[in-house]
Amino acid sequence: MKILPTAPQGLQGTLQVPGDKSISHRALMIGSISEGETQIENFLTGEDCLSTLQAFRDLGVQIELTGTQVTIHGVGLTGLKAANHPLDMGNSGTTTRLMMGLLAGQPFESHLTGDDSLQKRPMKRVAEPLSQFGGRIDLSRAGTLPATVIGQPLHATNYQLKVASAQVKSALILAALQADGPSTIKELLPTRDHTEIMLRQFGAEVETAADGLTITVQPQPKLRGQSVVVPSDISSAAFFLVAGAITPHSAIILTNVNLNPTRTGILQVLQKMQADLTITPKPSDGEPLGDLTIKTSDLAPIEIGAADIPAVIDELPLVALLAARAQGQSVIRGAEELRVKETDRIATVVSELRKLGVTVEELPDGMIIQGRPAWDIQDHQLDSYGDHRLGMMNAIAALTADEQLTLANEAAIRVSYPTFFADLDHLLGGQA
Ligand code: S3P
Repeated sequence: MKILPTAPQGLQGTLQVPGDKSISHRALMIGSISEGETQIENFLTGEDCLSTLQAFRDLGVQIELTGTQVTIHGVGLTGLKAANHPLDMGNSGTTTRLMMGLLAGQPFESHLTGDDSLQKRPMKRVAEPLSQFGGRIDLSRAGTLPATVIGQPLHATNYQLKVASAQVKSALILAALQADGPSTIKELLPTRDHTEIMLRQFGAEVETAADGLTITVQPQPKLRGQSVVVPSDISSAAFFLVAGAITPHSAIILTNVNLNPTRTGILQVLQKMQADLTITPKPSDGEPLGDLTIKTSDLAPIEIGAADIPAVIDELPLVALLAARAQGQSVIRGAEELRVKETDRIATVVSELRKLGVTVEELPDGMIIQGRPAWDIQDHQLDSYGDHRLGMMNAIAALTADEQLTLANEAAIRVSYPTFFADLDHLLGGQA
């Protein structure tokens, strides 16, 4: 149980949040299947990325981790070896789904398992499209982990995705690299394209058509090890952007944040809500990045729908929190994917906001939130329910409370942001 700090004097200062989770996973995976050495700087040492790192060690790849610096001795696309025990995916949906795509084309069998939350998450969304490539993945009867991936020669396929999911798309791209001809994967809506960008950097031919939705993958590339500098994670920076916007007397600068347009939905949300946000792009030859400055301001309500969701998918708990402090009614719709995240994030966000006295109506695909100028605390014990992003959302909400709140299951935060409370303390100027 953690006693959560409040911030009567606001938050001030400059912070570089840790490396991006999605990009750290991909750097490990693509570095492992490349030839030669890959160096990763500013790697995220959250538990999810450590699950990926351990899985590749178990598959015979030599990987060194020192601080946030990783060296991978890549084995090439055909050099992985069967693990002699089940691969533990921990809490990580990204590890699980992307690994399924990669392992589907390997000449051995792999067993995948994970924690209680991960064992509830849907995996048919990956197994079914992979079967179109000739892949064989046996799931539990509920369509979940544990899974057995029975590696097979894969066939080139044209596939239309049925969910807007970068994890499913990336799994299919990693499978297509091992197929017997060029494959085409078509998305429903544009989702994060870190896999495509990084594969190109490592020498693969992965093309995205002008529609931004159709990806063509040429098979059997020779991938060459690279140096990757991971930009800071906008999904982690987002907690402090929202903290700065809603906590009186705040002014925060967040540096070197990844500004890939498939990820910046939270910036558009803040702008539409009239937050005092300044975006300063910086030159970069890979993923776009920049500095973000946020100051406290009054907030207008917002309405967002299905087309807006992919670029803000992991930040929706924070959008709900912003809405809870805006002047008026906000609506989030088209976000049914939230129900299959680390927790059912519609149910858990509604539960936590109600503890703060917020009037919120739960919808099958979102919520309607009545903003209020201050909390009216109904229950002092907030809970992460084992979901890292819920834990951090609660900690940000507590900054503006005038009573002491606690957080149960705070350890979940280590999944994506092990230094979260230290970084918060830095912005509090050691007031906590
Ligand atoms: C991720 C994709 C998203 C996101 C997750 C990370 C990725 O999941 O929510 O945190 O790294 O590809 P979905 O693909 O399920 O939308």
